[in-house]
Amino acid sequence: MARVGNSIIKGIEVEELIKLLNRAYADEWLAYYQYCIEEKVVKGIMKDAAIAELNQHAQDELRHADMVAQRILQLGGTPLLNPKEWFVHTNCGYEEPKNFDVVAILEDAIKGEQCAIKTYSDIIEVTQNKDIVTYDIVSQILADEVEHEEDLVALQEDISEFIKQVKGN
Ligand SMILES: [Fe+2]
Ligand SMILES: [Fe+2]
Repeated sequence: MARVGNSIIKGIEVEELIKLLNRAYADEWLAYYQYCIEEKVVKGIMKDAAIAELNQHAQDELRHADMVAQRILQLGGTPLLNPKEWFVHTNCGYEEPKNFDVVAILEDAIKGEQCAIKTYSDIIEVTQNKDIVTYDIVSQILADEVEHEEDLVALQEDISEFIKQVKGN
């Protein structure tokens, strides 16, 4: 644990911070898995573009999980050790893909990103002016999640537009 590093955290309990980060850690792993499985089962028009996007997002979520775990360790905590705990601590849950159509898959993914944006915005509020290191890490992740939402929405709009044109409406 970074002793002096932790001593600069003011006005917030380190234990509370570790709990919040572990919840985000659970979210990242579930998001990673969701993207991995979505990219395999997705069907329909322009699915290759969706596969490329989903694959990129999976890699990003895994990188986020690693960033969050490193910070938990620095704070003297332990990242969740058992995947069973992901379902206990997650904020955003896990959206099992039921409809494999590309537009529906993208819709599920967009919901996940919107939840991630909310989660990280909350941690940013809690850490602002109190824990600058966590604040900085979480700000970087938040910027990625905002970009993820935007990319998915843009792709979903392109595909929906293309389907409209194909149908001749
Ligand atoms: Fe993420
Ligand atoms: Fe994301």
